[in-house]
Amino acid sequence: MIFWRVKPLEQILANAEKKSLKRQLGPWQLTMLGIGAIIGTGIFVLTSVAANSAGPAMMISFVIAAVVCGLAALAYAELASMVPVSGSAYTYSYAVMGELVAWIVGWALVLEYAVAAGAVAVGWSGYMHGILREIGVAIPATLMAGPFDTITLEDGTTVQGSFNVLAFAISLLIMLLLVLGTSKSAKFNAFLVFIKLAALGVFIALALPAIDGANFQPFMPNGFFANEQEIAGSVLTVGVTAAAATIFFAYVGFDAVSTAAEETVNPNRNMPIGIIGSLGICTIIYLLVAAAATGTVGAQPGGELAMSKEPLAFVLREIGYPWVGTLVAVAAGLALPSVILMMMYGQTRIFFVMSRDGLLPERLSVVHPRFHTPHVITIITGLGVSVFAALFPVRMLADISNSGTLFAFAMVALAVLILRRTQPDRQRHFRVPAAWLICPLAIFGCVFLFMNLSGHTELLFLYWTLLGLVVYFLYGYRKSHLALAR
Ligand code: ALA
Repeated sequence: MIFWRVKPLEQILANAEKKSLKRQLGPWQLTMLGIGAIIGTGIFVLTSVAANSAGPAMMISFVIAAVVCGLAALAYAELASMVPVSGSAYTYSYAVMGELVAWIVGWALVLEYAVAAGAVAVGWSGYMHGILREIGVAIPATLMAGPFDTITLEDGTTVQGSFNVLAFAISLLIMLLLVLGTSKSAKFNAFLVFIKLAALGVFIALALPAIDGANFQPFMPNGFFANEQEIAGSVLTVGVTAAAATIFFAYVGFDAVSTAAEETVNPNRNMPIGIIGSLGICTIIYLLVAAAATGTVGAQPGGELAMSKEPLAFVLREIGYPWVGTLVAVAAGLALPSVILMMMYGQTRIFFVMSRDGLLPERLSVVHPRFHTPHVITIITGLGVSVFAALFPVRMLADISNSGTLFAFAMVALAVLILRRTQPDRQRHFRVPAAWLICPLAIFGCVFLFMNLSGHTELLFLYWTLLGLVVYFLYGYRKSHLALAR
């Protein structure tokens, strides 16, 4: 039976009280936290990857991904309002499906959060390279990308990367901020969210009026369902659904709100507001940005937008606002680090809870006496993220991150259904409407998008899960506090 060692909800709630973090976040800060985690490399950078994959039909990809995330967000909101403790999908699974499933979910969340932080760092470096080029600062091309990525120089030649030095450096810097303290970081985050919203707002205001209907043709050059094609010299998994599986990354982050549950004032009310509010706002913005980018410069696979590593700045330059393009690049340069911060923060809090449960060594959850942050786990996470960011290309990292996220989302939707059966009378401050329709649809959506990721991403997810099982049986299975308490 795989559903062993189910941790009673009462025990989870009591444990959280015992070893807790300070409650200081309200609904406004949570929504900011959500937007801070959501808007990032997805819209600022992967828009070009989506164009390369789907052409103008990437707008449909944005909608598909939004629908799947919206369904999952409802499930997250119900669980976050019932189990308002840190650890997100991991904690929920522990309470509903037991330790083994919880461990696998927690292990998958490492992909979601830590790998995503790396992806955002790489996306950020693309905009920074553009800015540095504009102000005449030269970085050797091989230090602009990892060994599995290429850089296209201004004269059109392509250079193989070796080590993405800026992505590496920003990851370390964010790690330092997190060690110094959550509260400071959250305020800093709110400021950067404002910059991000302003940049996207200006982009939409300038680009929407410049739309030309002809740019939407041909609308679906690579077809609807995922297929393999050679584009600009590389064989890629393309199509509207493949683009949806990648652009899904742009919406990920609302669940980071739930990882802050233990630091939230009145979580029962504020968690659902933070999660659903931030996702809704971002969805509207994304659709406008995608339509504006496509309609102004076209979005054909292999075209200029599709090849750009700083697509929004590119669009503004093309439509005659070069200096606004630079400003948007600067805004991305300033604001994307807030996403890295949120992702890394989410990862550290998940490790924190796993180690509090004894599934990872307890030494890892030590809280710093002066900064009150779990510094050991933060430093380990930060070093890991820096290495991914230095070595891998953004699409690869985003896709890998998506594989873990999709798995976690599906498990959360499943957990909602199981809890409705096993604990029908427990108080739910937020209930998924028509749960028996919405949750199965969420699961189906996650499985569907997972199937549309590239074959090597799926394989990597499988290997990662197998590795996780080995680690569990060598360590967590014996050291689990739940097991030792029995
Ligand atoms: N949704 C976040 C981003 O787009 C992870 O960067």
